[in-house]
Amino acid sequence: MNRTLTANDLSEVVEADRAHMWHHLLQHKPHETTDPRIIVEGRGTRVWDGTGKEHLDAVSGGLWTVNVGYGRERIADAVRDQILKMNFFSNSLGSVPGARFAEMLIDKMPGMSRVYYANSGSEANEKAFKMVRQIAHKRFGGKKHKILYRDRDYHGSTIATISAGGHEQRNAEYGPYTPGFVKVPHCLEYRSQWGDVDDYGLRAANAIEEVILREGPETVGALCLEPITAGGGVIVPPEGYWPRVQEICRKYDILLHIDEVVCGIGRTGKWFGYQHWGVEPDFVTMAKGVASGYAAISCMVTTEKVFELFKADPSDPMDYFRDVSTFGGCTAGPAAAIENMAIIEEEGLLENCQEMGARLEANLRELQERHEVIGQVRGMGLFWGAELVADRDTKEPAPEAKVLAIVGDCMKQGVIIGATNRSLPGYNNTLCISPPLIVTADEIDQITGAIDGALTRVFG
Ligand SMILES: Cc1ncc(COP(=O)(O)O)c(C=O)c1O
Repeated sequence: MNRTLTANDLSEVVEADRAHMWHHLLQHKPHETTDPRIIVEGRGTRVWDGTGKEHLDAVSGGLWTVNVGYGRERIADAVRDQILKMNFFSNSLGSVPGARFAEMLIDKMPGMSRVYYANSGSEANEKAFKMVRQIAHKRFGGKKHKILYRDRDYHGSTIATISAGGHEQRNAEYGPYTPGFVKVPHCLEYRSQWGDVDDYGLRAANAIEEVILREGPETVGALCLEPITAGGGVIVPPEGYWPRVQEICRKYDILLHIDEVVCGIGRTGKWFGYQHWGVEPDFVTMAKGVASGYAAISCMVTTEKVFELFKADPSDPMDYFRDVSTFGGCTAGPAAAIENMAIIEEEGLLENCQEMGARLEANLRELQERHEVIGQVRGMGLFWGAELVADRDTKEPAPEAKVLAIVGDCMKQGVIIGATNRSLPGYNNTLCISPPLIVTADEIDQITGAIDGALTRVFG
């Protein structure tokens, strides 16, 4: 078989893909009649597909990941140098980039102290869940083991993380689920569960307390929340929500686990989403933007207080966190993460995220004034959603086929945007816009210009 490809002929790749690839979160029947799209190259905010077409990437690799943009030689060089010197050893022993990145990361997270490496967001979340369970056994005879999660939040694709997942469509048919996970209500005021309330943030937080009291506080070990719900519709918690959540966790001795897999490492204009609200978490998990997709790395970060719970009795061979992640010992991850973080600092990308985020917000709000179909615009930094509705008064969601038509129209114009995908039945109606943190003002205008044109064509 000829394995050499020319720049212009990817027909063999397309056929190999059609014959053997099983893509993520995709129905494959259409590939019988249309070619799968192959992404071949990336530079800055742009990617090129197998037909040579250029696209402006307004979703950072489709999944809020490529924060520093494509083609960063500095990251590639650091990874190359590191893996030639020492690519892997079990993380039971230390590594140079592992220790260095842990120190850099903790410097950005006052109050936190320890970094546990893994490979994916799901896995990092599972580490925190296991710690909560072990703490329950060590301190509470196994009783305080329940983990609360929120409707519309997502924490990963494994059986335990879907058991903690508020996306009905991601979960359906994959049960039975792991026991001990309990749902609390979402905090999207636009779709209020309690009608018109004066202080929705407080009301939604109090709903968590109601669940705790119903379950029995002595059975609840942790509360796991996204700082801003991502795939469930880009939901920024309303004012008053986070302080009350913190208060409730302290009141009932419940560990607070913040899932920063999407928001972490700059996406919202601060290093972490929770830092907008002064929250003091016990666990913080992160993945996507940690190395911007240049290497697979995730981190579960915790406090010295939690860490201390796992080293109480050195004479007891069971008294530690008995967990391992093979690829958590790969040095490519932290080597890439060090350069990624340095780029964000040296190029002022948190500031760019705030400035370009403000422009993106202004442009989206202007679109909302002209397009009835935009029911609400939500977000922070370079992390935005526009919920589409068939009727502004009734808030009936726009048909999903039309939402997808907007994404498809933008793609034709050379701009890749996203939409909430197989999350909630009937409510996959939010457009997602989250370009790399290096995006320019002209590119922001190009993104919203493409959405403008698409809305006009699809909805009139
Ligand atoms: C908030 C959140 N947590 C966890 C995950 C799971 O991360 P991964 O796909 O790396 O396992 C995701 C993935 O999209 C996510 O959005």
